[in-house]
Amino acid sequence: MPTINAYIALDPSEKEAKKDYIDRHSPFITVAASAPKGEKLPVNVRLGKDYLHPDDTDHYIEEIKLFDGETLLASATLLSGNNGGQGGKGQAEITFFIVPQKKLKLTALAYCTKHGLWQSDPAVVEVA
Ligand SMILES: [Fe+2]
Repeated sequence: MPTINAYIALDPSEKEAKKDYIDRHSPFITVAASAPKGEKLPVNVRLGKDYLHPDDTDHYIEEIKLFDGETLLASATLLSGNNGGQGGKGQAEITFFIVPQKKLKLTALAYCTKHGLWQSDPAVVEVA
């Protein structure tokens, strides 16, 4: 089982020292805090809030997965070069569309080809 790195699990001093490394590998979820039941809901997942991850042929973000609790909702496979290639300015980013039937506790996982799996903070969506 691979180690799953999590932004939330690091102590504050470690977070500061490795701020750019952690940021560029962490998936960040952007979603509404509440949504109507049965209607399409966009869920954006972006790698890095303030820093860019490399997009080289041997080092890039290959996979982004979206979970509701233990349930896998969606998965996207990315190829190198989609974000400008070496020296590119893009960030790996996907918008999933889901139709919620109940309250969601969303978590994203991202896989870097050199630095492994990274987990987002959870995002809760109230559904009514
Ligand atoms: Fe990396």
